[in-house]
Parts: sequence; structure tokens; C-alpha cells
Amino acid sequence: MAPRARPRVAGVVGWPIRHSLSPLIHRIFAEREGADAVYLPLLVEPGRGSLMRALSGLRAAGFVGLNVTIPHKEDAFALADKRSAAAEAAGAANMLTFADDGLYADNSDIGGFKWALAQKLEGRRPGRALVLGAGGAARAVVLALKELEIGDCAIANRTRKKAEALAARFSARVADWPITPKLLAGVDILVNTTSLGMAGEPPLAIALTALSPDAIVADIVYRPLETGLLRDARARGLAVVDGIEMLMRQAAPGYEAWLGRKAVVDDELRAALVDALHAEAAK
Ligand code: ATR
Repeated sequence: MAPRARPRVAGVVGWPIRHSLSPLIHRIFAEREGADAVYLPLLVEPGRGSLMRALSGLRAAGFVGLNVTIPHKEDAFALADKRSAAAEAAGAANMLTFADDGLYADNSDIGGFKWALAQKLEGRRPGRALVLGAGGAARAVVLALKELEIGDCAIANRTRKKAEALAARFSARVADWPITPKLLAGVDILVNTTSLGMAGEPPLAIALTALSPDAIVADIVYRPLETGLLRDARARGLAVVDGIEMLMRQAAPGYEAWLGRKAVVDDELRAALVDALHAEAAK
């Protein structure tokens, strides 16, 4: 009997990793097209050394690629042999491909956020954006805003020095923290990339009264799915982009590179993720 072809295997490395929604997203992508594929959550301790050891073991085990999440995105970038322009721009990678000629790093967080925002922009070209936070997620968001040619992009962060460093790197402005209503006047796109509003963290307390009625409010936090920020924005009738939108889109390129042909991001996928989050919250 001829041996069966080996299923393609990929995964996501992070610490912690138990709550990652990526395995569910990839399972749905694979089931839809009947792909013979496996996608595993992999717990890898923080540190470049432990990531390096994990990568060499996973390559030997036949993995075709990996998503990379907190705290490994910068180390993944540093360990790669080749890097995409997006990864170079961000200085971080959320995708690693085990290619024949080495390890290839890419960044689909930027494209994920860009796509999620573009859905709401519907061709409009807003003038001003304000990004809250200056960590790894803020980098991807600022790059996406630049790619969308948002002319005036400001960054506000509790630790001002970090906002200054990010602003200098990406030709953005620094705005004051904490956020006052005055700072929101004239802002077309407000994005929270801080951990404020996340389950177990303090709320992000800002009054949205000064935002114009056609402003868009985005939050990359998705636990809870409806953060206080998004609830306030919806109550004001503003367009919102939640964390699930970016998450679904950043996953698609990995699936298409490693496991199957076409990753379809649609309302059905979103509903499955929302159900999973609700089930988790009910526990
Ligand atoms: P990520 O890679 O997800 O962006 P991070 O690099 O740890 O994560 O960044 C977290 C962001 O949330 C930072 O901008 C952080 O502000 P500091 O740079 O001042 O630490 C912000 N943040 C976390 N807790 C906060 C709090 N209690 N108040 C204000 N900002 C907070």
C-alpha cells in the first residue's frame, strides 16, 4: 500500500498561547476546502535562545511555517535569513516560513489592520489619525495608516519617550497622554493599541464627545470583543473596527502560504470566533 501523503503542518508560537484563536481560524479555513492540514498552538518560553531552539526542532519535525505572537515577534524578525518589506518596516515578524534556503520572515499584522480599516473607509481618505499606545501593535497600526496615506498621524502613550521613538521612526507626531477631549477634535480615526480595556486591565477612560460623527474608532483588544471604547463609539453612532477583524485578516496569508489554497474571511468565520469568545467568557 502506498504511504499516505503527509499533512501540511503549521502552528503559532507564543507565551502564553492557550487562548490563541489562530488554531480555530486555521481549522475553519482548512475544513472549508478539505485541506489535509494541521495547525497547532505551541508554547515557547520568552527569549531569543528558546525561540531559536524551538525553530530548529519544528523545522526538523516538518513544519512548513509558523505564526508568531507575543513575546516573540522581534526575535522572530532577528532570527530570519530573509525578510519581507513589511517585516523590515515593522522590525517585527508575525509569520515565519521554513523555506529551502532559510527562514523567511513576514508581517501580516500591517495588512490585517489596513484591510479592516479600509472596509470602513469605503474609499474615503481621512486626514487625521490618533493612535493610543506605542508597543508592537502600535507599530503595525501606524504603518498601516501610512500605507493608507493618512497624512497626519499622531501617537499618544503613557510613556512619552516610546511615543517619541515610534513617531521619529515613522514620521508621525506625538500627542499628549492622557487623552483630553481637545486632543480628539478633528480626529477621523482613533485606534487603541494599549492593553487598557482588556479583561483584567483598567478601562480606557476617554470621552468621545469631540469626535466627528463620521469618525472611525478601532480597538485591537478582542477580549472582551466589545470594549468600553467600542461600546461608547457605537452608542454615538460611530463606525467601529474590533480586534477580531484584524485577527482574521492577519491569519489569511499564513494559511495560503502554508496549508491550503484560499483563506476565505467572511461573516461565517467571524461568527465562529465570536461564539468561541462568548463560550470562553461564560466559563
Ligand atoms: P503590544 O506589543 O501588544 O503593543 P506592549 O508592547 O506591551 O504590547 O504595549 C502595551 C501598550 O499599552 C503600551 O503602549 C503601554 O504603555 P507604556 O509604553 O507606557 O507601558 C500601554 N499600557 C499598558 N498599560 C497601561 C496603563 N495602565 N495605562 C496606560 N497605558 C498602558
